[in-house]
Amino acid sequence: MDLRVDINAACSIIEKENLLWTSYTEYTPLHLASTENIRSLFPKINTSFEKSLVVTCGGDQPLECLKYGGKNIHTFDINHLAKYGLFLKIGAIRALSYEGFCKFYQDFDLSLYSQIRRFLCPEICIFFDFLFKRYNHMTVIYFMFDKINNYQISNNSSVFTKEGFYQIKDQLNKSDISYIQSDLTDIASKKKQEEYDFIYLSNIFYYNGMSWPQYAEFLNEQLLPHLKQDGAILIHYLYSGLLEPTILSLNSRIGSQIAESKRREFTSLMSTTTGLDTELISVPASDFGFGDGNEDIGVVLKRKNHRITI
Ligand SMILES: C[S@@+](CC[C@H](N)C(=O)[O-])C[C@H]1O[C@@H](n2cnc3c(N)ncnc32)[C@H](O)[C@@H]1O
Repeated sequence: MDLRVDINAACSIIEKENLLWTSYTEYTPLHLASTENIRSLFPKINTSFEKSLVVTCGGDQPLECLKYGGKNIHTFDINHLAKYGLFLKIGAIRALSYEGFCKFYQDFDLSLYSQIRRFLCPEICIFFDFLFKRYNHMTVIYFMFDKINNYQISNNSSVFTKEGFYQIKDQLNKSDISYIQSDLTDIASKKKQEEYDFIYLSNIFYYNGMSWPQYAEFLNEQLLPHLKQDGAILIHYLYSGLLEPTILSLNSRIGSQIAESKRREFTSLMSTTTGLDTELISVPASDFGFGDGNEDIGVVLKRKNHRITI
């Protein structure tokens, strides 16, 4: 039943050619690859990734955890279609060589799908069999997946590098990745018994409509109880270091001063409300990032006297 609803929703997205897409809802196009420079960010987050809770996105963020020893990865997303994007990518990694994987995702070589489908569970296989039969491959990729997110930004994540691809492929055999459809605000109630080494929330905060104090309270009350003593949580990814994209309209020197002072305010509010240390981790700006900044920033909370346990 859900599968039929999901297929109909995907068809409707493809047929509307994704024109009406303005925010993240239960059915929106998927990102083909990470828009965040997670390849540079993850190694700077000094934590274990063994048990992680990660927003699914286009699959790259959960897969990046595998590169750093992730074994038990729980993913969630508001978008029902994120599940299909994630497990298609995992199937492609299992089935293909690095060169084949790039051909499938970057050159849209549909002939490779026959190899991938052998690694898909029935539900995911039925979904993509239907779409690839009804529409041509380019149509599916371009309209079900976000158009702006094409191969030029795929160097944001390790899975699109040869070394990272094989590390992730190897770790897939030793790990378990699950998906649950959920809004961020409901995820804690669905994972009541779980504790995590690492939680990754991407840049959902740009879109979820909470004020800074509301977000700080939400993290404190709902997510931090699920963070292990030595765990780390990425609460926001800032493109060009900006908490609020509107600053972009300002002259760049004034804009960057305001951005810095806002980051200080935000950091201090998060630390005061949660009692945790806030760390701002700078990485080279992702290829997607808006603005003319040279760096993006990951905002990470850790308990005081944090040390890694592996
Ligand atoms: C915020 S978007 C931004 C794209 C991201 N930077 C990337 O690299 O893919 C990341 C993911 O968050 C999901 N998302 C957005 N709002 C959400 C919410 N309130 N709860 C759960 N997932 C959400 C989207 O569906 C998307 O898959």
